[in-house]
This record gives sequence, C-alpha cells and structure tokens, in this order.
Amino acid sequence: MTERVVLAYSGGLDTSVAIGWIAEQTGAEVIAVAGDVGQGGEDLDVIRQRALDCGAVEAVVADMREEFADDFCLPALKANALYMDRYPLVSALSRPVIVKHLVAAAMYHGADTVAHGCTGKGNDQVRFEVGIGALAPHLKVLAPVRDSGMSRDKAIAFAEEKSLPIDVTKKSPYSIDQNVWGRAVETGFLEDIWNAPIEDVYSYTSDPAAGRAADEVVITFTHGVPTAIDGEPVSMLSAIEVLNRRAGAQGVGRLDMVEDRLVGIKSREVYEAPGAITLITAHQELESVTVERDLARFKRQVEQRWSELVYDGLWYSPLKRALDTFLEEASVNVSGEVRLRLHGGRAVPTGRRSTASLYDYGLATYDSGDTFDQTLARGFVELWGMPSRLAAARDARVLGSGRASAATEPMGTG
Ligand code: ARG
Repeated sequence: MTERVVLAYSGGLDTSVAIGWIAEQTGAEVIAVAGDVGQGGEDLDVIRQRALDCGAVEAVVADMREEFADDFCLPALKANALYMDRYPLVSALSRPVIVKHLVAAAMYHGADTVAHGCTGKGNDQVRFEVGIGALAPHLKVLAPVRDSGMSRDKAIAFAEEKSLPIDVTKKSPYSIDQNVWGRAVETGFLEDIWNAPIEDVYSYTSDPAAGRAADEVVITFTHGVPTAIDGEPVSMLSAIEVLNRRAGAQGVGRLDMVEDRLVGIKSREVYEAPGAITLITAHQELESVTVERDLARFKRQVEQRWSELVYDGLWYSPLKRALDTFLEEASVNVSGEVRLRLHGGRAVPTGRRSTASLYDYGLATYDSGDTFDQTLARGFVELWGMPSRLAAARDARVLGSGRASAATEPMGTG
C-alpha cells in the first residue's frame, strides 16, 4: 500500500509546492489539510481546489473557528495570557487546534506521517511537532522547508517547472500569520529594529492617531466567559469578532516588540489583536473586583507560566493541563460587567459591577457610612511589623553599629 502523508496546508507557495515535493521525494500520497481559524482572506474552497490541482489525493478544509475560540482563545483569556507581558499568543494558540485536526486526519486517512512547511528558525515547527507527538506519538514528521532543502528559490523553480496554479510573483515582503485572535507580521524592513512600522503593515486596526469619536462598550462575563456585549448575547467567537471590529476601528491592540523565541533568537514582531487585548483588559478588570487577594496574586504567576508553556509549544502537556484546572477554579466568581472606553489605541476600563463583587463600599469609603473599624488597625500594624522590629533589634545587638542597616546610616556616607 502506498504510504500517506498528511500536510498542514495554507494555500501559499511553500505548502503548495510541498505537495509535489513530498510526493516526489517519498513516493507517498499527500492529503492536504487546511483550517479556517478566522484568518479571512481567500475562500477555503479555492484553497481546497488548489491543493488538488497541486497533486494532493485528498484535500480537507475544516471550519475550526468556533472550536478555536471556545477551546483555545477562551482558556487564554482566563489566563490573561500575554507572553513577555505583551504578546497575546496569536500563532501559538492556533497551532494546537490545527495539530488536533492534522492528527485526526492522519488517523482517518491511514497516514503515518504529518508534514508542515515551517522553517527551522521559528517557534511553529516546535508547536506542530511537539503537539503531534503529544497526541499521537507514533506519527512521523516531515518538514521539507527545514530538512530537505526546499528553499524559496527552489520552490519557485519547482512551481514554474510543474506549472502549478500559484502566482509566484505575488510575494509579500512580510511573513504574516493571522487568525481571529490577532495578526502577526514579521520580516522585510521590520528586521531592522530601528525602523518604525508603517501603516501598511496593519490590517486589523486603524491608525490610533486618526481623529474619531470614542466608542464605549459594556462586556458581560459569566464565570470568566464573555457572554454579552452591550447586553446582546455573544458566543466567544462573536465576542472576538465584534471587538476586533470596534476596538480595531479605534486602533486598539497594536504591538511592536522584540521577542524571545524558543530557539534562542530574538526577533522583531509586530502584532495587532484588538479583540484579544480588549477582552483581556476587561477580564483583568473584573477579576480585580471579584478575585480574592491571595488567589489573584498566585494567579499572576500561573498566568505567566501558562503563557510560556503555550508559547513554547507545550499546549498538550501535563503542567498546562493542570494549570487549566486551576484557571477554571479561579474563574468561578468572575461574573459581572465591565465598561470600557475604546479610543486612541487604548481600551480603558471606566466602570465595573458584579453580584460577586468583593468591593465593599462601606469598608472603602472615606465618607459617612464607614463600617471599617480603624481601632483594629493599630494592633494589626503592630503585629505585622513585629518580625521587622525583632530583626532590626537583633542586627543592632549582634552586628553592632558597624553594620547598621542602610536606612539608619546618615545620608551621604558610605
Ligand atoms: N513570533 C510569533 C510566535 O511565535 C508569531 C509567529 C508567526 N508566524 C509566521 N509565520 N509569521 O508566536
């Protein structure tokens, strides 16, 4: 029986050439799998037909949008996931959902190998291969661009020689990856990290400096899940889509950063994620009102670790799974509403309300109606500071005045 290979297919030059390239090099039949993760652009039927025209024995296009939003973007929202405190993991989130479908297709079509078009310099090769290994350890991997010399020039030559139905002249100066959670742009003139991005680079967002009236939005959350916008019920997918439009029009969610890749390279990345940044901002705001202090403090560590694991291709890993359980538990009281002002590139919370609020007006107020018993504070502060006073007294006794703490030394000495 002829061997079969499932290829992660985007419809672009590299993966279109990879179909024939893999078939020639291995003698295997190639099954192309493409996914809609809300990237927009070309019609998926067109992409499907192109795969067949390029020699795929089978081409599958899957609508992954709801699944991507519910099972990948939503956990990221609960984690307020921002790699290096900034990047909302756009590409890192889409790889595991694609991996799931690649593995399912391999099982269904009896393939023993999965192929992808990633280079050897990026994170995505790691996310594909580690993800595939975690779901189906028996599957083999092929990476023609990285491992069998399928360079850009050779791909173009191959496409011309076989007259493949792809426009090889339509070459963007950028490498772009986009989905409903956001858009990543790299390479070209952006590789000089002193060069400012030009307006041309952006497509999900308008220029934040352009004058326009502010937009006000109210987002409702139920147990950490966005369930309504301005009172209209929404699914996770439609919440992201609506906010991509409204926050995008205000230039919210642009990001220009130098990022630490897993392979050790620092790389310049420009992102835009208007919906994701607005949702995370609103979610953080509601958490500040509904999550108990120590849980909130600990959660920040979990958020950072979760983001690193997902960035590093470990979506399907025991630690990530265990942290998800923590995030679910931490979300039980995150219900209520946040009002934000979208304007000038920023989403700024201006109001919050919740039946699960821990904000107690009586305790917080400096006006009449104060219920906080200030007489208790004196003893509390006394005991809270006791270890510090004990240590200071010990230092004076044991170390003497020669090594008094910095704070007790007269200014200007030492
Ligand atoms: N650096 C980002 C990440 O690793 C984005 C990668 C985007 N991929 C691309 N082919 N442009 O998540």
